[in-house]
Amino acid sequence: ADPPLRDLAAAKGVYMGTALMASELSGTSASIAGTQFDSVTPGNEMKWDTVEPSRGTYNWAPGDSIVTFAQAHDMQVRGHNLVWHSQLPNWLTSGSFSNDELHSILVKHVTDEVTHYKGKVVHWDVVNEPFNEDGTFRQDLWYNQLGVSYIADAFKAARAADPAAKLYLNDYNVEGTGAKSDGMYNLVKSLKQQGVPIDGVGFQAHLILGQVPSTFKANLQRFADLGVDVAITELDVRMQTPSDAGKLQQQANDYAAVVNDCLGVTRCAGITVWGFTDATSWVPSTFPGQGAATLYDENYQPKPAYAAVRTALGGG
Ligand code: G3I
Repeated sequence: ADPPLRDLAAAKGVYMGTALMASELSGTSASIAGTQFDSVTPGNEMKWDTVEPSRGTYNWAPGDSIVTFAQAHDMQVRGHNLVWHSQLPNWLTSGSFSNDELHSILVKHVTDEVTHYKGKVVHWDVVNEPFNEDGTFRQDLWYNQLGVSYIADAFKAARAADPAAKLYLNDYNVEGTGAKSDGMYNLVKSLKQQGVPIDGVGFQAHLILGQVPSTFKANLQRFADLGVDVAITELDVRMQTPSDAGKLQQQANDYAAVVNDCLGVTRCAGITVWGFTDATSWVPSTFPGQGAATLYDENYQPKPAYAAVRTALGGG
């Protein structure tokens, strides 16, 4: 039988991951995920609204179910995520906290979650999506109340809780060079200069058909040159639906280009697709009229993009 993507990736020195939701841990989705991929990112199960739905009450079961699945299939876990502006519990968004109290809430959350998963999560997305499109900081509750130091504080708390975990900053629309990517570059440079424990930068790569940035590889390399690992963390390539043969071929080329960009950068640790099947992809619900963004169709059949990723990873 053809070797799965994970074996081809491993031979190239990278991991090949997928996002997976707790609803996908049985049947066809489980068998594809557990066979083809060697890293898993919980789609929603480790986010704050799931983990701490009311203050001080933890709900680890959904995230734990992903970890148990990963361990049973010899997969790494990429924890997603610790600090973000979205999918926060109501008690946090509707509460009114002093700056000191909010700071304590943030540090406690990072500490408790990383401690719970200590030794089980290899990579953490510590801070997710902190930038506006123009490269300035997003005016979310963290930045508005705590200022930019919330980012360093989150990384320090994560490092203290699990010194072995690889700690990442993660964002989207930063794949090519440009204002947002420059903002992230300047932040990483400054965090490194201050000795903040950051190990890597994640490039989500929610891409549009035919629009893989031509500067992606060079951009990954300039971050790597700052002394951090880089990773593709949420890859998908969306198109106007329905798909047709021409679009699927373009999509195959796009996926292959991203794989090649990662393989071309020594410090690129791996690639994660944000779901592997069109059956459960987040795209259609967020972008009406768009979809068909993943490697497998809605019937769990591999698409041309799957074959292209195989070829890019050196498979036959
Ligand atoms: O669980 C409820 C269900 O009970 C309810 O019936 C249903 C009705 O809408 O909603 C379900 O929750 C949804 C959840 O996904 C699980 O499917 C939420 O509404 C929906 O908002 C949520 O969307 C997630 C989205 O993040 C939220 O921002 C997507 O699954 C998830 O793939 C997506 O992932 C993000 C990354 O974390 C960060 N980068 C971008 C990426 C895509 O948006």
